[in-house]
Amino acid sequence: ASAPMRIEVKGEQWWWRVTYEGLDGSEVETANEIRLPVGEPVVFQLEARDVIHSFWVPSIAGKVDMTPGRSTRLTVRPTRTGTFRGACAEFCGAAHALMSFYVIVMEKDEFAAWWSKERGDAVALDHAGAGLFVQHGCGACHTIRGTQARGTVGPDLTHVGGRVSLGAGILRVNRVDLTRWLESTGSLKPEVHMPAFGMLPPAELEQMAGYLEALR
Ligand code: CUA
Repeated sequence: ASAPMRIEVKGEQWWWRVTYEGLDGSEVETANEIRLPVGEPVVFQLEARDVIHSFWVPSIAGKVDMTPGRSTRLTVRPTRTGTFRGACAEFCGAAHALMSFYVIVMEKDEFAAWWSKERGDAVALDHAGAGLFVQHGCGACHTIRGTQARGTVGPDLTHVGGRVSLGAGILRVNRVDLTRWLESTGSLKPEVHMPAFGMLPPAELEQMAGYLEALR
C-alpha cells in the first residue's frame, strides 16, 4: 500500500486553509473544503494561525483543538461518499459561527479527476475580470496559480469557482453571491480581514465575480 495522503488544515480568522502535501514535497492549497477518496486513510495535520479553533466534522471526526504553534495529527478513513458539513467548535472571535467547511468524500476515480484539475494552474485567464482583479490589488492577499496574484494572506482562489461554498460556508459560489461578497464583506462576516470593495462600479464588481466564478 502507498503512504496515506497528508493534508494540513489551518484555522484562520475565519476560514480554513487546506494544503495537500505531496510525497515529493509539492503543495497544493485550497480553502474551506476538503475532498477525499472513499476508503483511503488520510492524515490531517491540524494547526491554527493566531487563535485556537476546533476542527469538527460530526459525521467523520472531531472535535480536535487547533492550536497556534502546535500541529495535531488526526487520521481518518472515510467509509461512505457524500458531502459532510464541518464547523469550528471553539469560540474564536466575532465570526466564530461563520466558519464552516465541507468534507466531500468521492469515489476514487472521481477524486482522481478532481485532483488532476485542482493541482493545475487556473483557467479563464483571458476573462475580462482578470485584469480588474490585478488592478484592484487582490493579488496582494490571494493566489491564483498561473497569474501574477501570489498573495498568501487570504484563501487561494485558483479554483474557487469549483468550490461548494464561499466565505467559509456562508454563501454559494455563483455570480450573485460573489458580487455580494466583494461589495460587503464586513457586513456578511464581522471583523473579516478582507476589505469591502463596494466603492467600485457595479459593472466592475460583476466582471470580477464572473471571473472568480469561471475559476473552476
Ligand atoms: Cu474558529 Cu471558532
